[in-house]
Amino acid sequence: METVLSGIRSTGHLHLGNYFGAIKNFVKMQHAHRCYFFIADYHSLTTHPAPEDLHRNVRQVLIEYLAAGIDPEAATLYIQSDVPEVAELYLLLNMNAYMGELERCTSFKEKVRKQPENVNAGLLTYPVLMAADIIIHRATKVPVGKDQEQHLEMARTFANRFNRMYKTEYFPAPYAFNFESELVKIPGLDGSTKMGKSESEGNAIFLADDPKTIRKKVMRATTDSGPEAPGEEMSQPIENLFNLMRAVSTAETVSHFLDTFNSATIRYGDMKKQLAEDIIAFTAPLRERILELDSDDAYLSGVARLGAEKARESAQKTIREVREIIGFKPF
Ligand code: TRP
Repeated sequence: METVLSGIRSTGHLHLGNYFGAIKNFVKMQHAHRCYFFIADYHSLTTHPAPEDLHRNVRQVLIEYLAAGIDPEAATLYIQSDVPEVAELYLLLNMNAYMGELERCTSFKEKVRKQPENVNAGLLTYPVLMAADIIIHRATKVPVGKDQEQHLEMARTFANRFNRMYKTEYFPAPYAFNFESELVKIPGLDGSTKMGKSESEGNAIFLADDPKTIRKKVMRATTDSGPEAPGEEMSQPIENLFNLMRAVSTAETVSHFLDTFNSATIRYGDMKKQLAEDIIAFTAPLRERILELDSDDAYLSGVARLGAEKARESAQKTIREVREIIGFKPF
């Protein structure tokens, strides 16, 4: 059985793209592997969130992952800052992480460019904390997107360096785990090919969106001027609407609108109305569950407690062994 670990950004609502992408795969994997899913709230401090926002965001992410089907009994679902052992491993790994390699990291260089007024040490050592997150459970599979591959490579470097330094094989090398072939790609509503990729308002449908918001977003989705003659090629924005429809509507609905497109009689307004209603029907149970969880503090705190307990058990074992390897001895 492999140990799989994924860190979840503590900001941002889940959208349909996340749902059909990583999360569906997490839900499938959680029974077949040892899965750790955690909300990366230590990491979020690099952007200096207000205390009340920090908690609200973590809570919302926890709720939405539960609503989407993460089972806190099967997987270990926890909040990073509930596991202080991660901070200790981060400190230990920092002693063997070098300025040069950290400064060369693409994500760091990008931050320096984007927020020159806040180039804090946490940003520089972000990959070290991420490595600690992963190797503290000695995870080998890390489902991440392309943008995180360099961080994964650095995690391998830090794990291997520790092993070499202490002449041990304690940490297994973690590898990025790409769902790619199994991913259902959900396009954005603004004509872009991936939901959530662009920041533009109304590009994404969130699981927590109410019906009114969904209708508004879908009705405003980018289209074109429509086919003028039968058999015309489809533009990207229209292709996107069809792809969204394939994810949430029945096959009959999709083929009906395809027929009208091919005969150049399609009315995008009609298609959007249908699409909006089908998205609403699809997300309704998720949204309902989100609202339910939102009013169940007792359940949420139980989930967080259970997750922290399971994660700490594994993390404490690692820290105990790592301390021993390094040479810390009790007096
Ligand atoms: N850096 C990841 C992101 O931006 C989040 C993250 C933090 C993470 N720690 C991790 C992902 C450990 C995988 C493993 O999405």
